[in-house]
Amino acid sequence: MSGDDDIKDMVETVDVSPREAEIPEAPGADVFRQLLHQAVRVADMANSQAMRMALDFAKVYEREQGVRKEFENQLKQMTLMEKQATRYAEDLAGMLRSERERRQELERALAQERIASEELRRTGLQGISHLLLAATIKDRTTGTHLQRVRRYVEAIAQRLGLPEDLVEEFGYSSVMHDVGKIHTPDHILQSEHVLSDDEFSVIKQHCIDGEKMLGTARFFETARAIAREHHERWDGKGYPDGKKGEEISLAARIVSIADVFDALTSKRPYKEAWSAEAGLKAIEAGAGERFDPEIVAGFIALAGEGVLERISSEVAASEDEDHSGSSAK
Ligand SMILES: [Fe+2]
Ligand SMILES: [Fe+2]
Repeated sequence: MSGDDDIKDMVETVDVSPREAEIPEAPGADVFRQLLHQAVRVADMANSQAMRMALDFAKVYEREQGVRKEFENQLKQMTLMEKQATRYAEDLAGMLRSERERRQELERALAQERIASEELRRTGLQGISHLLLAATIKDRTTGTHLQRVRRYVEAIAQRLGLPEDLVEEFGYSSVMHDVGKIHTPDHILQSEHVLSDDEFSVIKQHCIDGEKMLGTARFFETARAIAREHHERWDGKGYPDGKKGEEISLAARIVSIADVFDALTSKRPYKEAWSAEAGLKAIEAGAGERFDPEIVAGFIALAGEGVLERISSEVAASEDEDHSGSSAK
């Protein structure tokens, strides 16, 4: 603005110079004044143009500042969101990590439990073999009787379509069927004459004693049922409880067939061994009376397939091997 005033002052100075007006004007003074006025107008125009431009520029600048602020705000927001997302990702990773650690911990615990239960199983089986040794010595039966009964029982259970772990459980539980005979007096156990009623009631006690001896552990649950029920009959005329049909556990129904068949076809101090055919006939005759007819049918089928014979010769071979092994020592 001050530049503008200067120019005006300058023009006025030129305009109102009375002393100079008295002086005869130099030629071209009009033209000079005109030019001067024109120059002042042009300067005015230029000035206001410059003002407009400055205002425009200020507006643009302001707008740009606004946009920049907006942009900065958005940038700030984005940075914030990014930070948040990073935190979420870190949290998530942490959760996954601890989840993985928990799972590994669980797997370790499971593996340990497996080892412990395997250990327990082995201990249980070891206990069984000691018990059996005592029982078989007293009963004058042989270890091969128990081995054959176990293999027959497993073959029958498999044929009935039972799951593998149950087949195994029925097998190892079957060898304890007569474990209660440890309590039976020798003169009754080894008697070769027909037993009196009193003597027979003492014999019956071995089922009850056997169940008791096997305690309360889950591992012996099936063995307890077998010990108690292996002399029960399908028609309810067995002992010690007179249970009938499916009141008798499946394991005990299977064992009773395997046990009787092997007793018939083995040599005992008081009798010769029956042939397999004679033994099978006796079992077949007992179907529906002494034995569960369905299991008898399965047993007969196994015999037809040569499974019983194979088991019998395999057990005999393993016995020979044991004997030659022990004599070599
Ligand atoms: Fe028995
Ligand atoms: Fe037996």
